[in-house]
Amino acid sequence: MMIELITLCKTDDVEEEKPIAVNPDGFPALAVYLHEGDYYVTDNLCTHGMALLTEGYQEDGEIECPFHGGAFDIKTGEATSFPCQIPIKSYPVTVEDGNVCIPVDSKDS
Ligand code: FES
Repeated sequence: MMIELITLCKTDDVEEEKPIAVNPDGFPALAVYLHEGDYYVTDNLCTHGMALLTEGYQEDGEIECPFHGGAFDIKTGEATSFPCQIPIKSYPVTVEDGNVCIPVDSKDS
């Protein structure tokens, strides 16, 4: 079965420790990260409040929320620091022709 991909941004748009916000049609707000040469995508909205994680701080494979200092693992979405307890969703990333892509159906899984 062909997996349909949606392009989020160019690989060149993302720098280490500087995640970017993307808002593709049909998806919640997403964050794209570069970490040690690999790209990762998670939901951008903190599960603790109305904060966008791309306005926080990426460090050591974690994204720290700008509001209350909670944090998530950018690879798995797991909540790693209080007060965040509910994980954010993480998405499987494919890099194709210099674009960072995720499967279209990944919003349902
Ligand atoms: S809103 Fe993110 S830690 Fe509170």
